[in-house]
Amino acid sequence: MCGIMGYIGRHDAVPIIYEGLRRLEYRGYDSAGIAVYRPGEKASLGLVKRQGRLAELIDHLEDFSGSTLGIGHTRWATHGVPSDRNAHPHCDCSGRIAVVHNGIIENYAQLRKQLILEGHDFVSETDTEVLTHLIEKYYHNSLEAAVRQTLAVVRGSFALAAIHQNEPDKIVVAKNASPLVIGLGEGENYVASDIPAILEHTRKVYILDDNEFAVVTADEVIITDFIGDPVDKEVFDVTWDLVAAEKGGYEHFMLKEIHEQPEAIRATLRGTAVDGRVDFSYLGMDELFQKTGKIFIVACGTAYHAGLVGRLAIEKLARIPVETDIASEFRYRDIIWHPDDLMIVISQSGETADTKAALQEARRQGIKVLAVTNVVGSAIAREADQVIYTHAGPEIAVASTKAYTTQLLVMYLLALYLAEVRGTMNRAELEGLYSELLYIDTLVDQVLAEEAKIKQLAQKYAHVQSTFFLGRGFDYAVAMEGALKLKEVSYIHAEAYAAGELKHGPLALIESGVPVMALITQDHLVDKTMSNLREVKARGAVVVAICKSNLQEACEECDEQILLPDINPLLAPIVGVIPLQIFAYYMAVMRCLDVDKPRNLAKSVTVE
Ligand code: AGP
Repeated sequence: MCGIMGYIGRHDAVPIIYEGLRRLEYRGYDSAGIAVYRPGEKASLGLVKRQGRLAELIDHLEDFSGSTLGIGHTRWATHGVPSDRNAHPHCDCSGRIAVVHNGIIENYAQLRKQLILEGHDFVSETDTEVLTHLIEKYYHNSLEAAVRQTLAVVRGSFALAAIHQNEPDKIVVAKNASPLVIGLGEGENYVASDIPAILEHTRKVYILDDNEFAVVTADEVIITDFIGDPVDKEVFDVTWDLVAAEKGGYEHFMLKEIHEQPEAIRATLRGTAVDGRVDFSYLGMDELFQKTGKIFIVACGTAYHAGLVGRLAIEKLARIPVETDIASEFRYRDIIWHPDDLMIVISQSGETADTKAALQEARRQGIKVLAVTNVVGSAIAREADQVIYTHAGPEIAVASTKAYTTQLLVMYLLALYLAEVRGTMNRAELEGLYSELLYIDTLVDQVLAEEAKIKQLAQKYAHVQSTFFLGRGFDYAVAMEGALKLKEVSYIHAEAYAAGELKHGPLALIESGVPVMALITQDHLVDKTMSNLREVKARGAVVVAICKSNLQEACEECDEQILLPDINPLLAPIVGVIPLQIFAYYMAVMRCLDVDKPRNLAKSVTVE
């Protein structure tokens, strides 16, 4: 998630912008930049931007003193690797317009092509740069009008701020899907992608909604929709302290990121389809997708659990044999490779040493590798043959949540695309399943609304020393992830087991009061799963069913029920995992543990 900071007023803009960007550093970024209006006889826009940390800018800012208008940016790359030229702000051909942007311009490729034909020179690989050249194209002495015309032709998500050398009394901003706030001062105003950036200056903010546009001067903020119709906004009085503000008002990053999942899902879905069907043809792997005889999905931890779901989805939809393995084991197998094999590695950070080593081994064998990662320019993204990015934004909590659900989404999208390439599904089936993915964010929202009930469950069982997570098929894969979440953050021993396997040994561990979390979303397996649950109940276990609402009756014998919306069993993992994330979170909170930074763990395991 990129950071945006802008200032207009009577004070030096640079220190205010710099400090505002520093307040957003916690979100993670790979490059930074600032653009200011430099007054005087030869008025101009001053611009400095660098790959790396914000501090890289310090030595280049000294001649920007006296500027009272500027915008700045910390970049979380989505298009174009981290580099000086891909850093924001971006300028138009004349250097008179500067823009910072957070989001994804979905139709940037065709816009870029057209603008180049019209004579615009592009210097970066970013989607953002099309915004600056469009504003330049439409500029006729009104930055406001030029930005409005630009918004009429771009598609995608954006929070943007633009300044023009010829109009040094304003910042023009617009918001669609990515966050943007306006801080209200006395004779000065601020724009930012998040409240922490402006909290030391003001606690009065406008929180922009989608399709809102504003012209911000030192003394006035005029808010309209993209067309120009006035919008009546209430001022939001921020009561949070800075630490709370960085977490968006949540107590921990983990809970914030659990609640960010609907937006992360929407952001990852954006631009993945053409005419209602998934389009991954840009990967240039269609021939291999067509003929591969086996797919290896290799990852670690939560990413591995996403791979387990991916395997079931790909086998079911595309009818391709899939092997899954944890990377640290995969590397020591004597794999019987076939030249047409395909490896898929999944990694939120893109830096996990074991996963990188498995990728390198496959490439040594001449095997093509497709990476699924959340970090543009990461080692795994660079070393793989092709990459599909999740767009979960920075994931700060060690326990992975929104990365997992967006990895699941990419697995489903890939399974659908493979099915189309191999002709194992017809057009109606492909479009039907894709359309179900388009509203899965609303189903996640429904489950998030159960938070209070799940919190009560955690209060009830916070004292336990061990738990089981059971399921069959897709539910078993989700049980694995639920157990890991609980272990990671609450330090309670949690074992995930195939429901049908318990009686082959682990049943001996069941005794009175042991909580058993049971996933029950696979309609065709509910009877068998219930018979396994009767076995554990008979031995004193407390069974908590996470079940689809249409299966509620079958689960009545369970001691507790967390209901999920009725959903295609194939897609159930995306909603089934949510209660387990929330349960793990509150179990850790009840036990007064460091939820975001659990003992012994790192966010990215870059050692083997
Ligand atoms: C998940 O909650 C853990 N933090 C951990 O298992 C993680 O998924 C694993 O280390 C893999 O990390 P990666 O996705 O960055 O490769």
